[in-house]
Amino acid sequence: MKIDDVKQIGVLGGGLMGSGIVQNIILSGYKTVCRDLTDEILENTRGIIISSRFGMLSGIKGGKFTKEQMDEALGRLTLTTQVEDLENCDIIIESVGGGSETQLEDKELKKRVFAEIDDTVNKDAIFATNTSFFTIADLAEAVKRKDRFIGMHWFRPPNILKAIELVYTQYNLEEVIQVMEEFCQRLGKTSARVKDVPGDTGFIGNRIWMQVTREARRIVEEGVATPKDVDAVMKLGYGFTLGPFEMGAETRDPRQRSGQSS
Ligand SMILES: NC(=O)c1ccc[n+]([C@@H]2O[C@H](COP(=O)([O-])OP(=O)(O)OC[C@H]3O[C@@H](n4cnc5c(N)ncnc54)[C@H](O)[C@@H]3O)[C@@H](O)[C@H]2O)c1
Repeated sequence: MKIDDVKQIGVLGGGLMGSGIVQNIILSGYKTVCRDLTDEILENTRGIIISSRFGMLSGIKGGKFTKEQMDEALGRLTLTTQVEDLENCDIIIESVGGGSETQLEDKELKKRVFAEIDDTVNKDAIFATNTSFFTIADLAEAVKRKDRFIGMHWFRPPNILKAIELVYTQYNLEEVIQVMEEFCQRLGKTSARVKDVPGDTGFIGNRIWMQVTREARRIVEEGVATPKDVDAVMKLGYGFTLGPFEMGAETRDPRQRSGQSS
């Protein structure tokens, strides 16, 4: 597959991340099918895409694009509860969550949604998971197309932040990694190649972020400094846009929903 063969994208999960991902992709000119479980959830997806804090209306206000471009982009979007509507997609991006109050990542759910679509979706299509932590090779076990299964980790809010971690496994074809790199460029992103390793480590961003938050919390627990002063030093001394505590460092585990890790 070449990048110009990529015509239609599928997104599994129209929650906070999925809707931002969809917004980015339809504004980049791709037809997109977003699948979630109910029409009610999908109505909410449309609402997030259009009217949320980082939604399209705020993009228009900020002069990033016009109302006409927004309408054209929305015209490229299909919201569906039917797995069969994903059949002709060239890249599928999974961004599903279990909906639990605290746990953001659910390995079994992710494996189940990929297994569910493996026989339906075009066999050349690339499957990409937006997991922030899980070892990609473990998730790839759910499908027959292990060579076309890759990590594509977006950061929140996904239509605003420019980084994407492309996490490749020992099974991946070089062609698949390259198509995904070019796809990221077409979405206006900068991708980093990350080698998949066992142990659900959190790739580059979350792995480093966990060390930063651990030390920030220790500094406060030891009475060395206040959260406000930790944040001030990291912002003014190291150029952080937000300090660790402003980013939610008090949360113990960034895999939990209340974390702000990604
Ligand atoms: N929230 C973050 O900061 C963040 C950052 C990077 C990556 N991620 C990844 O994105 C995923 C989603 O995060 P979120 O914040 O959007 O969660 P969310 O709860 O807002 O959205 C998850 C969506 O998945 C849907 N879903 C559940 N089962 C499904 C199925 N079988 N088919 C289709 N859709 C299904 C839910 O109905 C829900 O709308 C996480 O599990 C994580 O892997 C999250």
